[in-house]
This record gives sequence, C-alpha cells and structure tokens, in this order.
Amino acid sequence: MVGGVQIGALAACVVLFVPMVMAGWHLSRNKMLFFGCSLFITLAVCVHLTPYFPSVSDFATSFSSFVVFDHRDSCINLVNQIIWDVKPTHRVVNNTSFTPNYYYEKNWDWLKSRKLDACEFQKLDKSDASDLLNGSWVVVAGDSQARLLVVSLLSLVLDQERVDSIRGDLFKRHSDYDIVIDEIGMKLDFIWAPFETNLTDLVIKFKEKRKYPDVLVMGTGLWHMLHVGNASDYGVSLRSLKSSVVSLLPFSPELGTDGPVTGSVSIRSPHLFWLGMPMLINGMLNTEEKRLKMNDLMWHAYDRALGDSKLLRQTGGPLVLLDIQSLTWNCGPRCTLDGMHYDAAVYDAAVHIMLNALLIESHQRL
Ligand SMILES: *[C@@H]1O[C@H](CO)[C@@H](O)[C@H](O)[C@H]1NC(C)=O
Ligand SMILES: *[C@@H]1O[C@H](CO)[C@@H](O)[C@H](O)[C@H]1NC(C)=O
Ligand SMILES: *[C@@H]1O[C@H](CO)[C@@H](O)[C@H](O)[C@H]1NC(C)=O
Ligand SMILES: *[C@@H]1O[C@H](CO)[C@@H](O)[C@H](O)[C@H]1NC(C)=O
Ligand SMILES: *[C@@H]1O[C@H](CO)[C@@H](O)[C@H](O)[C@H]1NC(C)=O
Repeated sequence: MVGGVQIGALAACVVLFVPMVMAGWHLSRNKMLFFGCSLFITLAVCVHLTPYFPSVSDFATSFSSFVVFDHRDSCINLVNQIIWDVKPTHRVVNNTSFTPNYYYEKNWDWLKSRKLDACEFQKLDKSDASDLLNGSWVVVAGDSQARLLVVSLLSLVLDQERVDSIRGDLFKRHSDYDIVIDEIGMKLDFIWAPFETNLTDLVIKFKEKRKYPDVLVMGTGLWHMLHVGNASDYGVSLRSLKSSVVSLLPFSPELGTDGPVTGSVSIRSPHLFWLGMPMLINGMLNTEEKRLKMNDLMWHAYDRALGDSKLLRQTGGPLVLLDIQSLTWNCGPRCTLDGMHYDAAVYDAAVHIMLNALLIESHQRL
C-alpha cells in the first residue's frame, strides 16, 4: 500500500518536474505556470477525494459479483436452447402394435456455441439428480403435459420397473398423485389443475398454510383454449395467477424486504417454473372439436397472452420458462401421435432443463 507521504512526494515531483520538462518544449513561462498550477490542483483534488471512493478491492468484488450474477441470468436465458437429431432407426419391427414413432430415434443436446459452452449445461444422471433433489419437496401442477413431465422426472430418479408400476396410478384420469421417494427423501406431488384458476387456488393454499415447496412447476392453457377459447380471458387469469405467485414469494421485487415474514430462520424462495404449451399439429389432433378450436390463430393468441401477462422471468416475472413450445417444434411431428402429447424424449429434455436451471440458481442460493 502506498502511504499518504509517498503520494505527496510523488505529487510534488510531478508538479515540479513536468512543467520543467515542458519548458524544454518551448512553452512560455506563463503557460508553464498554468500547467504547474493545474497539475497541482488536479493532484490535490485526487488525493483528497480518494478516501471517499470505494477502495479498489471493493470495486473488484462488486464487479466480480456483478459478473457472476450476469452469468447466472444469461445462462438461465440460454438453458432452453436444445437441438434435436431425429433419425430413422433400423430396428426390425415384427409387431404391428408398435407406433410409427418407434421407427425414429430421438436424440437431443444443447446447442453448441461459445456462450452455451460457458454455461456448462449437462444431462444429469440418476445420482446427480438425486443429490440435487435430496430432501426437497417438488410440486408439479397442471394438465396432461405436467403429468408427462412427472413421468420423466420419476424415470430419472427411479428404476424403470418402479416407474412402470406407478404409471397406472399416475394416469388415473383427472386425479392427483403423490409419492415419497425414501432413498433421496424427496416428496413429489402431482396436482391435477387443468385451469389457471386451479393454479391460483393452489398458490393461495400454500400461502395460507405458510408451507412452500422447494420446486414448483406449473403449466396450463390447453384446457382453457378448448373449453373457453378466449385468449384475453386467459390473459386475465394469468395475471391474477402472477399476482398470487408474487405475493407468495418471501423476497419478491414488488414487496422488497417487507414481504411476509414467517419467523423461520431461513426463508428460501421456492424455485418456480412455467411449463409452456406444446406446439399443436392441427391435422393430427384427435377430435373435430380440437381441430376446430385449437387452431394456429388461437394458439398464437394464447402465446401472446402469456407474454403480455409478464408471468415469465424473461418478461420480468417470477417463473422460469420450460420451453415446451420450442422443444416440440424442433422435435416435430415424428415426436407425437396426436399432435398434442409428445414422446418421452421431449419431457425428458424439459426435466434436464429444469435441473440445470436449479443448478444455476442453487449455486447462488443454497
Ligand atoms: C421379433 O423380433 C425380435 C427381435 O427384434 C425377435 O427376437 C423375435 O423372435 C421376433 N419374433 C417373431 C415372431 O418374428
Ligand atoms: C407387441 O408389443 C407390445 C408392446 O411391447 C406388446 O404389449 C404386445 O404383447 C406385442 N404383441 C405381440 C403379438 O407380440
Ligand atoms: C440425502 O441426504 C442425506 C443427508 O441429508 C444423506 O444421508 C443421504 O445419503 C443423501 N442421499 C442421496 C441419494 O444423496
Ligand atoms: C378447476 O377450476 C375449474 C374452473 O374454475 C373448476 O370447475 C374445477 O372444479 C377446478 N378443478 C380442480 C381440480 O380444482
Ligand atoms: C373474453 O374475456 C374477456 C375478459 O374476461 C371478456 O371481457 C370478453 O367479454 C370475453 N369475450 C367473449 C367473446 O366471451
């Protein structure tokens, strides 16, 4: 550290010698005097103001934390950038009950680019996923898309036989399902909530009980499109969902630090996700009513309503998008039988997107 005395001595030298050197460059005496004075004043001001500015190390710290924050944010924005490789398989199929999709092999990975590589996204294996989710309470609420996401999540952390044995209960029409996976102390709830109002009710219930899941995934839209068919009404429902979610958050931007205080030692914000709507392939939808009401025009109106509701992180809202739209669009018609429910590969990818987002967030929070 350079002490005040040394700085003073240095300043004196500069004030003395710089004008003398300049005198060699044929400056007039007045100009020299002017230079000398202004140098002196500048140095004096600098020396006296230095203590009032944050020290260099403070500055470096705040800068590096800014960089970390920025990295975290930009990686969250990139986490949905998945590319597909869907190609025919050469499997011999001698069984007519196999679906045409069986003939295609679906592989996915994150897009290769410098920015994405820096985020180090990875497909988590069973043990990594178990570590990450160890001891947590996960709630997935929504329609059949949410149910398919649950199957993919369970397939990642459980053996296939156990998933197959669960499948029957999980797919009981229009019902809730819950399971505790003792090995990793994870509790998983699926809540049948086909409408946005169902989600809002759920969030209000969490708030009343003051018990929040660690991870909450929500997603609806298809039922509203089919049974209500009014995009602006969908937008209204999403906005009220958003305000109930925001009031749930212990540290929401709108509430500042004056938010609800539960009195517990650590109030963690739950990690919140929105499960986007899939692309609908109109010609493949399985009823005339669906083909009529769930057309492209309507789909885009609903998508706009979601954007306008500012529910998603990318529009300043609280929920991180799991971009089923881009996953299904890129996987394409070979990845669906009914133009609405897609193959496991799509929801598997969504699970890995979610886990990577959790990894990014938990580096900061946990
Ligand atoms: C069907 O194909 C499998 C292998 O893919 C083979 O093991 C099996 O014997 C075949 N069955 C018949 C009836 O051809
Ligand atoms: C065809 O495959 C399905 C699904 O694997 C199986 O349930 C069914 O028994 C098979 N049928 C025949 C005739 O092998
Ligand atoms: C989960 O965490 C507990 C302690 O909190 C530990 O004993 C257990 O081994 C962990 N399980 C896994 C699968 O990581
Ligand atoms: C979901 O909301 C709809 C419309 O508000 C309601 O009719 C239905 O009973 C709710 N379903 C559940 C499971 O709460
Ligand atoms: C659509 O929903 C909005 C908002 O709820 C409502 O004002 C409007 O009347 C509805 N339009 C139709 C055609 O029902």
